[in-house]
Amino acid sequence: MSYNLLKGKRGIITGALDENSIAWKVAEKAHEEGATFVLTNAPIAMRMGEIKELAEKTNSEIIPADATNVEELTALFTKSQEILGGKIDFVLHSIGMSVNIRKNIPYTESNYEYFMKGIDVSAMSLHKMLAVAKKLDAINEWGSVVALTYAAAQRTYPFYTDMADIKAMLESIARSFGYHYGLEKKVRINTVSQSPTKTTAGTGIKGFGDFYDYADAIAPLGNASAEDCANYCITLFSDLTKMVTMQNLFHDGGYSTTGVSMGVMQKLGIQ
Ligand SMILES: NC(=O)c1ccc[n+]([C@@H]2O[C@H](COP(=O)([O-])OP(=O)(O)OC[C@H]3O[C@@H](n4cnc5c(N)ncnc54)[C@H](O)[C@@H]3O)[C@@H](O)[C@H]2O)c1
Repeated sequence: MSYNLLKGKRGIITGALDENSIAWKVAEKAHEEGATFVLTNAPIAMRMGEIKELAEKTNSEIIPADATNVEELTALFTKSQEILGGKIDFVLHSIGMSVNIRKNIPYTESNYEYFMKGIDVSAMSLHKMLAVAKKLDAINEWGSVVALTYAAAQRTYPFYTDMADIKAMLESIARSFGYHYGLEKKVRINTVSQSPTKTTAGTGIKGFGDFYDYADAIAPLGNASAEDCANYCITLFSDLTKMVTMQNLFHDGGYSTTGVSMGVMQKLGIQ
């Protein structure tokens, strides 16, 4: 069901790699809710071609941009305003990649070059996007920026290795930049801390399948799906959440505030 929550709004959606991507679902929902937007991803992801299908389905144009490259981000924000016919109302940052995770390197033996790459791609990219947008004055007053994060920023999950530290940085950038952008331009910035979700980035983490089931057994509502996450992002892009900024918002079926569930106790033979 659609409520026209984003009618007349213009956006930029990063990170739609394939139909499992959280960003893919956000794009579908944003289209249903009346928004127009540009899709973007790293040039290398573009070669896989699936994003074209999404662009056709949502009547959007694609602008390739490496989120670590300020020049490419400048072109992205400039061209997006031209294509969409005005300033941007919402931005989804849905970008994550750790070479240390990809290569199965234990946290205590992290390769620092890979660590820096992870920081640049997955956290600093948010700062770069916001700095470019602010410099160009590309985002409308009351515009909304959402970046996706994970609970390993607050509590330790050994398999999440350097991404835990990187997500903590991402959440901090959302708060810090959220202060300045809010004060000067009333642009709001939040992070959504999402349940484990079966996407390319998610399933690339060793032990993810088992952990997905564990989180599902802990959360009273179960794991939130990518589609649920997209619905939540839409509310954050809408005017209904106008005064929400600089928050890390848990979207996890109650997982983060549950100590233990009866289901898990039973599995351990305690109950
Ligand atoms: N899947 C999960 O379990 C989960 C849980 C919580 C948060 N998240 C976060 O959600 C976001 C989206 O991930 P997803 O799960 O949809 O997986 P995904 O693999 O579909 O999306 C990750 C995206 O990042 C893009 N990307 C990588 N390097 C880039 C670069 N240099 N420039 C621009 N884009 C680049 C990829 O091309 C891809 O589209 C990530 O920030 C991830 O950490 C995922």
